Amino acid sequence: MQELEAQQAETLGQINAAETAEAVEAIRVAALGKQGWVSALLKTLGGMTPEQRQSEGPRIHAAREAVTAAIAERKDALESAALEARLAAEKIDLTLPAPEAPKGSVHPVSQVMDELAEIFADMGFAVASGPEIEDDWHNFTALNMPETHPARAMHDTFYFPDRDAEGREMLLRTHTSPVQIRTMLSQGAPLRIIAPGRVYRSDSDATHTPMFHQVEGLVIDKGIHLGHLKWTLETFLKAFFERDDIVLRLRPSYFPFTEPSVEVDVGYTLVGGKRVLGGTEGWMELLGSGMVNRRVIEMGGLDPDEWQGFAFGVGVDRLAMLKYGMDDLRAFFDGDARWLQHYGFNALDVPTLSGGVGVRA
Ligand code: DAH
Repeated sequence: MQELEAQQAETLGQINAAETAEAVEAIRVAALGKQGWVSALLKTLGGMTPEQRQSEGPRIHAAREAVTAAIAERKDALESAALEARLAAEKIDLTLPAPEAPKGSVHPVSQVMDELAEIFADMGFAVASGPEIEDDWHNFTALNMPETHPARAMHDTFYFPDRDAEGREMLLRTHTSPVQIRTMLSQGAPLRIIAPGRVYRSDSDATHTPMFHQVEGLVIDKGIHLGHLKWTLETFLKAFFERDDIVLRLRPSYFPFTEPSVEVDVGYTLVGGKRVLGGTEGWMELLGSGMVNRRVIEMGGLDPDEWQGFAFGVGVDRLAMLKYGMDDLRAFFDGDARWLQHYGFNALDVPTLSGGVGVRA
């Protein structure tokens, strides 16, 4: 039986020399397959005498095991070599700088609107919206400005040549106040909303553009009074300008949709000749507000004996200019990439009350 040892040694040699999984498989078939030499030897056991079987059986089984083990080991080795080769080939150098991607920035108006939503959400206000193409009923009449009302003339309204199906004159909304009416009619009371958005007036100079932004605020509930209005505006402006020394002054004024109406001034301090909000060295006019006129509550489909409220309207662009120090409103809408690069905000720098509502990019 020298032959068996010789054949086994030859097979093991072949296995160790095999360079591919296919080559190993071919050797396995030639040894352990149905027609393989090990299988052929195993078959001879049947025709042996018990004595022969006792001496030959263990040798043949040992050969089978040695070949099986060598094949498994070689396959393992080849597989890990293949994996090593792949890992080496697919390696990427994470220390290489990423290619420069074109980067946009968030416009200061969008940033301020996000800041407003964040601050007012904390006080329980939802964000509401209305159409920019309005009818004169929502924009004027329902806000206590009937057709002959002189305040209409002050709005420098852009009108459309055609009326709508109900015969109402169509226009580009001149303020965000019509959202008050729309929200009362669609949601009823009580409610607490802000409505930021675009508004349009035929006007153009360093502080006026034909399109600009306002945010409207409206609270309707029971027992609402001017104290609620003052607290809300004070809390909002302190959070917005990130200063505790913001002081407000309420001056009697007139708006058709509020009664009483107040104009709100905010105190400033002169620092190196510049006005910085906070303190009471001087006052600048900031926004209009008041208690919602009974007639407006009625136009909103509510009973003014049951529901009261306050409202306010602020220029969003103005807020942005005051907070971030731009002085020409026209540049807001020029689309100059250098201006945006300078005044824009990082898209990932989302305003939060905890993280700060005005972190510069
Ligand atoms: N709609 C006014 C405007 O555009 C601003 C305003 C004033 C809104 C007083 C209000 C308010 O809600 O109560 O000039």
